[in-house]
Amino acid sequence: MNLENKNILIIGGATGMGFATAELADKLGGKVFIAGHNNEKNKIALSKLSNSAESRFVNVVDSESIDKLFSSLQQIDHIFVTAAPGGTGDFIDASLEIKNTYIYGKFWSLFMITKAAVKQISLSGSITFITGGFTENPTKGTVLVSAAFHAVEGFAKAMTIEMAPIRFNVIRPGFIDSGFWDFMKKKEREILFKENKGKIAVNRLGTSEDIAKMAISIMTNSFVNGQIIEVNGGKLPEKTV
Ligand SMILES: NC(=O)c1ccc[n+]([C@@H]2O[C@H](COP(=O)([O-])OP(=O)(O)OC[C@H]3O[C@@H](n4cnc5c(N)ncnc54)[C@H](OP(=O)(O)O)[C@@H]3O)[C@@H](O)[C@H]2O)c1
Repeated sequence: MNLENKNILIIGGATGMGFATAELADKLGGKVFIAGHNNEKNKIALSKLSNSAESRFVNVVDSESIDKLFSSLQQIDHIFVTAAPGGTGDFIDASLEIKNTYIYGKFWSLFMITKAAVKQISLSGSITFITGGFTENPTKGTVLVSAAFHAVEGFAKAMTIEMAPIRFNVIRPGFIDSGFWDFMKKKEREILFKENKGKIAVNRLGTSEDIAKMAISIMTNSFVNGQIIEVNGGKLPEKTV
């Protein structure tokens, strides 16, 4: 796989799956731009990449910030978006202000990014989004997450027709051991990780690198389009009594 002469934009690229993808794209010769809303994290991430890599500030829930990001770039070949502010919460407590919900943080941010991106993405380029297992297996407190994931997956599929030949795909990761879980207390996190490992057929949690490999495969394989690709190690059947 080779990404020479390709411009790769990774929104959320300072950490986790985004950074692992930035590292791999950088190794494969791509010109990498990482974008995120924390300049300090952007700086640290950039220091680990080759000299050709660049970073940009963007807040994905702010359309002006998104426009500013794209106006600072020339033609882009591939875009991978991992940034998605917000998270789980009970339906009963959900805000009626759409801007305060995960629908906005996850789905509307991608909508705004894509609106700006299609003006300057190469016609042989690709845009890849991330959803997750809650699309099909919601648990209590994931109503808006599941709804946002469905919206993202439907959006990606429909965009392959609307904006052909630009390719749109979605990676649906399983349980990934990334900094994403750092908000939890260590003990709680260990319990959660152990529980989830027991449900995965390959008997390990996923890594950001597992997702990065899929993101790069999508970028480099121009026949992958309109797909929802699960990268989850295989699911063991639920135990029944
Ligand atoms: N880890 C898992 O098990 C898992 C499973 C399924 C799906 N996912 C989804 O996969 C995505 C990536 O996960 P990850 O593990 O790579 O997590 P991560 O390391 O937290 O990556 C998300 C990145 O997006 C940035 N970001 C957040 N809000 C932003 C904003 N408003 N504007 C710009 N950048 C923003 C974060 O910056 P800060 O850290 O500074 O906020 C962070 O760098 C997430 O959307 C998550 O929901 C994760």
